[in-house]
Amino acid sequence: METGPVPPRSWHLVLLGPPGVGKGTQAEKIVGRFGPCHLSTGDVFRHAARNLNGNAPSPAMAIALAAMKRGALVSDDTVVELVRERAGCLACKYGFLLDGFPRTIEQAHALDGILGNVKRTIDAAVNFFAPETLIIERLSGRRVCKQCRAGYHVANKPPRQPGRCDACGGELIQRDDDKPEAIRTRLQAYAATCNPVLEYYREKGLLREIEASGDPDSVFEQTREVIRKLA
Ligand code: AP5
Repeated sequence: METGPVPPRSWHLVLLGPPGVGKGTQAEKIVGRFGPCHLSTGDVFRHAARNLNGNAPSPAMAIALAAMKRGALVSDDTVVELVRERAGCLACKYGFLLDGFPRTIEQAHALDGILGNVKRTIDAAVNFFAPETLIIERLSGRRVCKQCRAGYHVANKPPRQPGRCDACGGELIQRDDDKPEAIRTRLQAYAATCNPVLEYYREKGLLREIEASGDPDSVFEQTREVIRKLA
């Protein structure tokens, strides 16, 4: 929501990195500190799945949700259309933060077209990386509140009362795609598509790399430093 005065400087950022590396966690901190419009393609799909209210999804959405459940990528056409429909977010005067998009080189090219239409450019593509063992640990321990969607981790960010959300008391559940078979598929999908995207932003001089093995605050220190240097 665009309210209040125009900030002195806004940021147009893309967050890259494997599933579970902590993009969503850093996105929350960036939004809290700098206030950009946050667009997570994964969140949009999960929101659509929760709000079917007994109705059948559109054929394209049904295919997308089935792919997501097993950890595969949704088709480029569907994801690009979803972002195109939200181009207003990319024109936000507080800047934007793209989380989980683009994931393929085709999506990266499509994003350039969408940004051209709203007269925006990317300031940086921030790539978070960490060892795969740590990533699997983060994904398999993640829990989400069924009601308010607050995120937890059984070891790194446990709730006060096991299985219950600190904020609303809702039940904590595991995402379908955080189960072992889906985690394997997600990591394979990432490995198969990430390099051309990283190379694309490296060639443009936009890629910034962050080692994300530390705790969320220390990773955010690095993220903030990257943003500070863009000023
Ligand atoms: P999406 O929701 O984007 O999932 P993802 O990229 O797999 O990322 P995650 O949300 O799983 O992880 P994250 O990096 O945000 O980590 P988080 O901060 O939560 O996509 C889901 C699916 O949607 C895809 O598989 C695909 O099917 C579809 N999709 C979406 N976009 C698409 C696209 N562009 N193209 C095609 N398909 C698309 O952290 C994870 C856990 O670790 C949490 O429990 C957290 O508390 C903990 N943690 C985080 N950081 C730290 C830290 N520094 N130290 C300790 N613990 C930490």
